[in-house]
Amino acid sequence: MLKHTEIKELIKLPLAEGETRNVTVKGWVRTKRGNKHVAFIALNDGTCVQSLQVVAALQGEENPDGFGEELMKKISTGACLCVEGDLVKSMGKGQSVEIQARRIELYGEADPETYPLQKKGHTLEFLRGIAHLRPRTNTFGCILRLRHAMAFALHQFYHDRGFVYLHTPIITASDCEGAGEMFQVTTLDLENPPKTPDGSIDFGKDFFGKSAKLTVSGQLEGELGAMALSKIYTFGPTFRAENSNTPRHLAEFWMNEPEMAFYEIDDNMDLAEDFLKHLTAYALENCMDDLQFLNDMYDKSLVDRLEHVQKMSFERITYTTAIDVLKSANAKFDYPVEWGVDLQSEHERYLVEHHYKKPVIITDYPKEIKSFYMKQNADGKTVRGMDVLFPQIGEIIGGSQREEDLGKLLARIHELGMPEQAYWWYLDTRRFGTAPHSGFGLGFERLLLFITGMTNIRDVIPFPRYPQNAEF
Ligand code: 4AD
Ligand code: MG
Repeated sequence: MLKHTEIKELIKLPLAEGETRNVTVKGWVRTKRGNKHVAFIALNDGTCVQSLQVVAALQGEENPDGFGEELMKKISTGACLCVEGDLVKSMGKGQSVEIQARRIELYGEADPETYPLQKKGHTLEFLRGIAHLRPRTNTFGCILRLRHAMAFALHQFYHDRGFVYLHTPIITASDCEGAGEMFQVTTLDLENPPKTPDGSIDFGKDFFGKSAKLTVSGQLEGELGAMALSKIYTFGPTFRAENSNTPRHLAEFWMNEPEMAFYEIDDNMDLAEDFLKHLTAYALENCMDDLQFLNDMYDKSLVDRLEHVQKMSFERITYTTAIDVLKSANAKFDYPVEWGVDLQSEHERYLVEHHYKKPVIITDYPKEIKSFYMKQNADGKTVRGMDVLFPQIGEIIGGSQREEDLGKLLARIHELGMPEQAYWWYLDTRRFGTAPHSGFGLGFERLLLFITGMTNIRDVIPFPRYPQNAEF
């Protein structure tokens, strides 16, 4: 293969007036325009938001060596090319360099009659229907590069702080969040499943010898890791069979969960705040071209908002304070507010966007609306949970200090009617060398909503899964 240079590198080359460089580029045609003497082709290889202008002289009486009509007809939006030529400083507006083509090889045509990405300015909704091709748009190029950058920055953050990346299983037999919204994993014959004497399905005959599901969270196994390695984190796909068709829920989403021995709730909050600021700073320092594009095209306050969050110290309040603030608020909510109710996103956004005007961490929730593993407070009513709420998003992180006392944890498990036996291994951490510990879960796509300024979670994951959709 002819060695080529990526466009990200070419646009950075400092070329003097009149200087030329012989280069080869490869990429996909975004647009082609021109006249009977010359064609201008915008070529993009996805390494950056900028396209490179290819200037191709056309064959004519005065230019017999130019590119012929036949080749030019086949070069249309979406086609893939290899171009060799001279890189020169560009006279045109909006680009620093362009390539004057000497040789063009057409790798693949894209029939203009059927290639769906023709005109500029397709709606995000239209692009969702062609998720297999939307990475070829500037918008999704930016989003997908930012997604990569955030995954990288996440690993870097934990690695630099001595955390161990623990791979927790995707197939599990226990329900971490106790919400029962899990996808069944089975190899049983669905037409004719084996039955127990009482008529229910006999999962003892299933692949794993018991009923197995896709995990909703790696936390329980994460806790096992923290109780040996001190600080761990997970990062992987999680699954929720909740039938919520909202712009903030996916059936398959990526979650990052750090878990730390010897951390109490305040340490947990400090870590979450540092972490979110690190990710935001990384994007601002390393991904400005992509951020600027999204800022200009979709959300004029994006960059300001990222800078603002990075500088602010997050507000830390209890659930009880949050309820007081909401009750005395001068706003109409669809869901009425009373101590004990779960906060809806309208409430979360009121607190963040109108009242405090910065990220808010809420702690000490009523135990009834939180999971069984959270540390119980002395008041007997609340638990040491924490949710981090962000502007435009609402809940971006959910976490807690964990209940490390075996007796209290067992009492809660019984109170909720959970099957104690299924958690024997989890309970062993409280039997053998238990210790205070804490952790949280970051919804990676919720983070990306914040970082990209997108408003629908289906636009920040390459191939979204949601009710009635598993295409691509
Ligand atoms: O608040 P959640 O349910 O917490 C847990 O699963 C804990 N086990 C985490 C822990 O303490 N280790 O989920 C954590 C985060 C939420 O704050 C939200 O950002 C995201 O995961 N999330 C979703 N993101 C997209 N689609 C969904 N259906 C989501 N459900 C939760
Ligand atoms: Mg939550």
